Amino acid sequence: MKVLVTGGAGYIGSTAVAMLLEQGHSVNVLDDCSTGHASSVDARADLFQESILNSQAVAGALQGVDAVLHFCAKSLVGESVTKPEIYWETNVYGTRILLDEMKKANVARLVFSSTAATYGEPREIPITENEITHPTNPYGASKLAVDYMITSQSRAYGLAAISLRYFNVAGALRSKTGWQTERHNPETHLIPNVLRASESNPLKIFGVDWPTKDGTCIRDYVHVVDLIGAHLSALEAAQPGTHEIINLGSGGGYSVNEVIAAAERVLGRKIPTEISSRRAGDPAILIADITKASKYLTWSPTLDLNQMVSDAWNSIQ
Ligand SMILES: NC(=O)c1ccc[n+]([C@@H]2O[C@H](COP(=O)([O-])OP(=O)(O)OC[C@H]3O[C@@H](n4cnc5c(N)ncnc54)[C@H](O)[C@@H]3O)[C@@H](O)[C@H]2O)c1
Repeated sequence: MKVLVTGGAGYIGSTAVAMLLEQGHSVNVLDDCSTGHASSVDARADLFQESILNSQAVAGALQGVDAVLHFCAKSLVGESVTKPEIYWETNVYGTRILLDEMKKANVARLVFSSTAATYGEPREIPITENEITHPTNPYGASKLAVDYMITSQSRAYGLAAISLRYFNVAGALRSKTGWQTERHNPETHLIPNVLRASESNPLKIFGVDWPTKDGTCIRDYVHVVDLIGAHLSALEAAQPGTHEIINLGSGGGYSVNEVIAAAERVLGRKIPTEISSRRAGDPAILIADITKASKYLTWSPTLDLNQMVSDAWNSIQ
C-alpha cells in the first residue's frame, strides 16, 4: 500500500513512517516542519516539505496514494487558548483541504489523530467513546470539529475513516535507521520532562492534593509503538461509508509520582521536583476504556510504563 503520512516529521508521525516502511509499504510525507524535523523522516520516504494549507502541495503528495494517516496538527493546549486562530486554521481548515483533495484524487481511506481532549472533564472513568464531548480548550474543540467533519464526509462520499482518540503517548521506536525521538519545543509532556529535569530545572508537580491514591494526577500512557500498531490495524479495519471513533490508551493509569518513580528506577538517581499549585482545567484522573479498540482493531497494548520510560531515555542519549 502507498500511504500519505501528514505530520510525518513529528514525534508520532515519524514513528508511523518508519513502521510502515518496515512493513513494506511505500510512504509520502507532507509536513511543513513547523514543529517537526525533516531529519526525523526516514530517507526511504518521499518528503513534501509544505503546509497542509497549500492545496496544490496536498494534491501532489496524494498522487498514487491508497490511504492517509493524518497526524499533522497544532497540539499545544496552552497556545490554543492564547492563539486559537492557529488551531482552527491548521487543524480544521487544513483537514478540510485534505478531505477535498482526497475526494478529488479518489483516496477513500483515512485514519485521523483525535485526542482525549475532545472529552474535556469526563463524567465517568474509564472513559468510553460514548462519553459526552465537552472540550475545555480550543485544541480539543478543533479536533472534535474535525471528527464531525470526517463523519459527514464519510456518510456523504463513502470515505472509510477511523478517528483514534489518543490519551498520553510516550516512549520511542528504535527503527533500523535509529531512534525516532520525541523532540517538541516547548515540551509539555510529562515523561520527556521528567527525564530532562535537573537541580536547576526541577520537574514541576501541579498539585499534590488531588483525590487520588498519592495526591498527584493520574493519566493513561500508551507506548508510541503500540499506538502505531493500532493505526496499521485501523488502516485495514476502516469500512467505506463508516467513521468509527476509537480510544487508544492502556486502559490503566499512573500517577505523576509513579511516573517519577519509574524514571528514578531507569536512571538510577533521584529526579529533582518542585511542588506547584494545581493548573486550571486539569482533571484528576483520565483513563481510557479500550474495549472498542480491542474488539474493532483486535488490538491491545503490549509495552508498559517501564518500557516507555526506558525507550524515551535511550532515544535521547
Ligand atoms: N503526543 C501526544 O501525546 C498526543 C496525544 C493526543 C493526540 N495527539 C495528536 O497526534 C498528532 C501527532 O502529535 P505529535 O506529538 O507527533 O506532534 P508533533 O508536533 O511532533 O507533530 C505534528 C507534525 O505536524 C506538522 N505540522 C504542523 N502544522 C502543519 C501544517 N500547517 N502543514 C504541514 N505540517 C504541519 C509539524 O511540523 C509536526 O511535524 C497530533 O495531531 C496531535 O494532536 C498527540
